[in-house]
Amino acid sequence: MRKNPYKIWSPALVVLAVGLALLLPSLAGAKIRTHAPIQLKTEDGKIINPLTGENADQPYSPRQTCGACHNYNDITKGYHFQQGWDRVKDNFNAKKPWVLSDGMMGKF
Ligand code: HEC
Repeated sequence: MRKNPYKIWSPALVVLAVGLALLLPSLAGAKIRTHAPIQLKTEDGKIINPLTGENADQPYSPRQTCGACHNYNDITKGYHFQQGWDRVKDNFNAKKPWVLSDGMMGKF
């Protein structure tokens, strides 16, 4: 005589159904966030417009472009910006002299 497979799995199916019921509304409510359109700028503040070619051969400056609205000084001091560069020392780790910081900078 075969066991009814639904009887064995029914607790798992209930857990799955409840899990999906809880998860789906939050997935449906999730929106893709995009940034508002911005004007790229050169280091001396000139607008870069790749469509017209205006200063299109110039590098963009995050300080001028993003710093217009975001706090450039705070962001550039952050760990994920510095990646240990602000803490690099020759004697950072005596046991591993090739490790110069706690970030990706100075890591071998
Ligand atoms: C015109 C003003 C302005 C400029 C210029 C600007 N931002 Fe923003 N940025 C905003 C605003 C306002 C928000 C918050 C939007 C929100 O929370 O919906 C934001 C949010 C962000 C976020 C968070 C996005 C998120 O969905 O949480 C990042 C990352 C970001 N900006 C990066 C940048 C970078 C990189 C640059 C330069 C290339 C830049 N921004 C230039 C106004 C600006």
